[in-house]
Amino acid sequence: MALSRKQYRYFLKDSVRLTIDFNQTDQSKGLAPPPVEKPFSADSRSIDLISPDHWKEILTIDLLSAIKNRQSHRQFTSESLTLEEVSFLLWTTQGIRERASEFTAFRTVPSAGCRHALETYLCVLNVTGLEQGIYRYLPLEHQLLVVSQQKNVSARITAAALNQSFVGKSAVTFLWTTIPYRMEWRYDIAAHKVIALDAGHACQNLYLSCAAIKAGTCAVAAYDQDLMDDLLGVDGEDEFTIYLAPVGKI
Ligand SMILES: Cc1cc2nc3c(=O)[nH]c(=O)nc-3n(C[C@H](O)[C@H](O)[C@H](O)COP(=O)(O)O)c2cc1C
Repeated sequence: MALSRKQYRYFLKDSVRLTIDFNQTDQSKGLAPPPVEKPFSADSRSIDLISPDHWKEILTIDLLSAIKNRQSHRQFTSESLTLEEVSFLLWTTQGIRERASEFTAFRTVPSAGCRHALETYLCVLNVTGLEQGIYRYLPLEHQLLVVSQQKNVSARITAAALNQSFVGKSAVTFLWTTIPYRMEWRYDIAAHKVIALDAGHACQNLYLSCAAIKAGTCAVAAYDQDLMDDLLGVDGEDEFTIYLAPVGKI
């Protein structure tokens, strides 16, 4: 049954909080907290990223001009991005700044209750040293996990982005999925609005960080849900795509 506009507007309000018995959330009931990062098997292949202490080519730019000049870019040059640049963009959008405990990690972006219910995937098309394909950021390890390496990934992501052709012409696309339970464990049905808010923080950091590597990006929220989830290899229920942003040199 289709929801009404009134119901969708309700989603944006915090009135839902009054309907929740916070003594009955999974956290209050003593259920184990979900891991801060999606687990991966020990035999997965991963690639070390470059840590903040070792960045050489990242410019120090003035925050005011980065904000003043921020705009969406849908045209990119054919220049590739380096692994250092990709490392920088991953860290500024979802990197860990302090591991407070096994189940709490502060990141470079804020998150409701520090629950951080996002995962970051990359669709790599033109990054020096990386084969084309889908990768997942491991913020705790500051590594990239190889999800799938495939040759036709540009065509697939373009189709999944409803034929917005600039997506398939990027050097790399950042894709944010959510694992909603990470937020629901504490906030139950008040989780979903704040997950969407959190995705905005990551994407805005991407916009501003792109300015430091002479790159551009464009937020994209119009896509085919099933095709995009399929491309990333996520189940579409307990984890699904919510936002993406292609990046390229400008
Ligand atoms: C939540 C959100 C979703 C968006 N989705 C798309 C999209 O699917 N395709 C697109 O070309 N631009 C998309 N944009 C980019 C907007 O069109 C763009 O931000 C707007 O036109 C203002 O331009 P500016 O970012 O250069 O200021 C989106 C932006 C936001 C914040």
